[in-house]
Amino acid sequence: MLVFRLLLVTAAVVMADICRDPVCEFTFVIRRTSSMTYRGSSGTLYNVALNGTRLQQDDDAAVGYFINPSDVITLDGFTRDLIVVNDIFPGPTIEVMEGAQVVVRVINDLLTEGITLHWHGMHVINTPWMDGTAYVTQCPVPAQHSFTYRFTAFPHGTHW
Ligand SMILES: *[C@@H]1O[C@H](CO)[C@@H](O)[C@H](O)[C@H]1NC(C)=O
Repeated sequence: MLVFRLLLVTAAVVMADICRDPVCEFTFVIRRTSSMTYRGSSGTLYNVALNGTRLQQDDDAAVGYFINPSDVITLDGFTRDLIVVNDIFPGPTIEVMEGAQVVVRVINDLLTEGITLHWHGMHVINTPWMDGTAYVTQCPVPAQHSFTYRFTAFPHGTHW
């Protein structure tokens, strides 16, 4: 079994069960967000504050309106700019069998920055442009563009 995790995020939220297929496909959307914020149903981002042990919107009008902690990236309780994968932090985990083809469609939804994803520990043999080291083996994926990584999960282990 190969477990692998992204460098810019750590994993506690397991996105899916282990993929046991020869080809395993994933979609990663890269976005900015902030810790200690909450996105309302209208899409507006609100600051969140602690009220005792509960979280509430940081707004006088919202006193006593508590927010489900699973809807907030709390981190250490401070507001910080974050770049996240699939709107979660810690980010998604990919679990596949050794030797599987891993296909990850990366959608860079950032407004200005190009990004790559580096599969640390993978031996990306013969396809260096799939290794995700920006300006070394691959140009960054421009803002508002996507790129599909394809590589063989090898060797087994836990990787970042
Ligand atoms: C915390 O919540 C309680 C219960 O709704 C409310 O009475 C109180 O004003 C809140 N405290 C703050 C600082 O908003």
